[in-house]
Amino acid sequence: MFAACFNNRFTSALVYYVSLLLLILVSPLLLIWELVNTVPSCFRCKENMSGKVVLITGASSGLGELIAYEYAKLGAYLAIIARNKPESRLEQVAHRARELGSPDVLFVFADVSKVDECRMFVDETVKHFGRLDHLVCNAGIGQVYCISSDVTKFTQVLNTNFWGSVYPTHFAVPHLKKTNGKIIVNSSLGALLGAPGGCVYNASKAALISFYESLRFEVSPTVTITILMLGFIQTDFITAKYTRLKKDLRDVVPTMEAEPCAKVVVDGIRKGATYITEPRIFKTNVLLKLLFPQVHHFFYSCFSSLVENYKSSL
Ligand SMILES: NC(=O)c1ccc[n+]([C@@H]2O[C@H](COP(=O)([O-])OP(=O)(O)OC[C@H]3O[C@@H](n4cnc5c(N)ncnc54)[C@H](OP(=O)(O)O)[C@@H]3O)[C@@H](O)[C@H]2O)c1
Repeated sequence: MFAACFNNRFTSALVYYVSLLLLILVSPLLLIWELVNTVPSCFRCKENMSGKVVLITGASSGLGELIAYEYAKLGAYLAIIARNKPESRLEQVAHRARELGSPDVLFVFADVSKVDECRMFVDETVKHFGRLDHLVCNAGIGQVYCISSDVTKFTQVLNTNFWGSVYPTHFAVPHLKKTNGKIIVNSSLGALLGAPGGCVYNASKAALISFYESLRFEVSPTVTITILMLGFIQTDFITAKYTRLKKDLRDVVPTMEAEPCAKVVVDGIRKGATYITEPRIFKTNVLLKLLFPQVHHFFYSCFSSLVENYKSSL
């Protein structure tokens, strides 16, 4: 009977519109539920990081570097990872983290898109410190491609952003189970909002959400997972030099400073947040897209012209 009901175009549309109506009717209750959940989280105990071991990928610059400094100020031991490039600042980051309060910092050059190198840096971290408490999968690349760009370049985005988080997670989980540890994965609001020009990047970040939401069922409650959903943050990532667009994105869209973002992220992780969305205002965009996809499409189409103008350089 149910199958007949849902295979019928009229009844399935009716169910959809009745569900929408119910959603509108219960929305005041949802608001109260959101507040009831938010207020206690302000008072939730933060994990004491002193003496804990944190492994951060992509820590030679930007958010990874600043997240490392936040953990260092809390007295955590750090293992930081980035590729071996002549201009790499990884060693300087290690030095600064020690100055800020980390008792010991191990820096390892590795490429997260290579499975053997991920096994190597997880093993080296555990060998050096004897344990692992937090794995922060942060390394990522964000070149802007359109569908007519060289298609062979798309693979590297998935290899770094998706597999570059999954591989270290695979090797770290047995160690994190021993310490009731945490996995933190740096996805992006682009995964949910689908901003123009970001089809490959956004797809790689959407895959992360899907992977880690499913993984939660496998590893919880022993290991907890925090998914970062960030908007545009002021790092090299959004500069014209990096994206190969004509303008820095900070001149075109609302952006957040990187240091306060890193502080909020580490605070949220210590409180055991399931998701961290920054800037918070973007939660409205997510809701808008869910409830009124056409309005969201119109709104974001305005930004499309921006990308159209830049296509020649992609
Ligand atoms: N900035 C934003 O607006 C924004 C918004 C949402 C999400 N995010 C995410 O935040 C993360 C950090 O980005 P960011 O803004 O801080 O940019 P960033 O300054 O360019 O940092 C990227 C980091 O990843 C490392 N990395 C890149 N490819 C790697 C690889 N194959 N193996 C190991 N390390 C690699 C880079 O180091 P090397 O190049 O030295 O290897 C660098 O340390 C990314 O995952 C990004 O997608 C950023």
